[in-house]
Amino acid sequence: MPHNVPASQPNIHRGQQTMTQLNPTEEFFRDLAEKVKGPGGALEGKKALVIGIANDQSIAYGCALAFRAMGASVAMTYVSEKSKQYTQALANHLGVDPALYLPCDVRIPGQLEAVFEAIEKTWGQLDIGLHSIAFAPREDLHGRVTDCSRDGFLMAMDISCHSFIRMAKLAEPLMKDGGALFTMSYYGAEKVVDRYNLMGPVKAALEASARYLAAELGPKGIRVHPISPGPIRTRAASGIDRFDELMEIAATRAPSRMLVSIEDVGLATAFLASDYARLITGETMHIDGGYHVIG
Ligand SMILES: NC(=O)c1ccc[n+]([C@@H]2O[C@H](COP(=O)([O-])OP(=O)(O)OC[C@H]3O[C@@H](n4cnc5c(N)ncnc54)[C@H](O)[C@@H]3O)[C@@H](O)[C@H]2O)c1
Repeated sequence: MPHNVPASQPNIHRGQQTMTQLNPTEEFFRDLAEKVKGPGGALEGKKALVIGIANDQSIAYGCALAFRAMGASVAMTYVSEKSKQYTQALANHLGVDPALYLPCDVRIPGQLEAVFEAIEKTWGQLDIGLHSIAFAPREDLHGRVTDCSRDGFLMAMDISCHSFIRMAKLAEPLMKDGGALFTMSYYGAEKVVDRYNLMGPVKAALEASARYLAAELGPKGIRVHPISPGPIRTRAASGIDRFDELMEIAATRAPSRMLVSIEDVGLATAFLASDYARLITGETMHIDGGYHVIG
């Protein structure tokens, strides 16, 4: 067995199906582990909190699998009781301690705080925090930024941006040996991307917040990164008008001529979480096949 694959590979339960064979994501990491021996145990013993897994297409799930494959333990949240039943199988597969599989809707006062209390009680520390959530009301997201409502703007900023600042504040005392915090952004933060609309300014604020957090928490050894993946077909992405066209443009214009997968995002994020990246912070990491360098 490759040295960086967890010793016990639990069964996967997806929907009604029970599978004992590896799924494509697992196969990807197994094959990679055989090819790239180096970073296999790069996150051995690390404790990672992952917020934003809605299903097995979620970017956060790709990151959680990568953290796990490189040796980290994972704590995970679900947004509602309804979603809990769908993500339970993923939590099982990731080997999440039931005490660290917790509700977290960042709009509900006390839920994010309770997650960190449970981590303190169970682990006593945290090394990695991944924030992979976003929301904007549909009518504001589909209209011009010029027309967006105050309430819609504030809600999008609260859920998609300020919650990351709150997460960093709660993580700070638990990252006793330093750590790494990540949030998911998009190229629409930097340039006007057709139909990204309100999420553009929200992601711009998120990236700027991450830079300030990196500066403030850096002396404690805490690194902070916005991750900027190319378009990936996920539930959140389905809220963007004519998302397929964005994917088509990315696939034809990116230097790689390839679309990004959740495995690609997971792998690069796990690298940034490891000591291999110990003096990299504050930077927006584009995982987009090079799309952002094209004029
Ligand atoms: N899919 C893409 O093309 C793409 C590209 C770049 C960045 N992103 C960003 O990646 C992140 C993850 O999105 P995804 O594409 O994996 O989709 P996803 O739908 O799988 O994940 C979005 C997550 O946000 C969570 N969420 C929404 N409101 C919440 C709240 N109030 N409290 C807690 N959680 C809440 C959802 O439960 C879900 O888990 C988002 O920030 C998104 O903007 C996505």
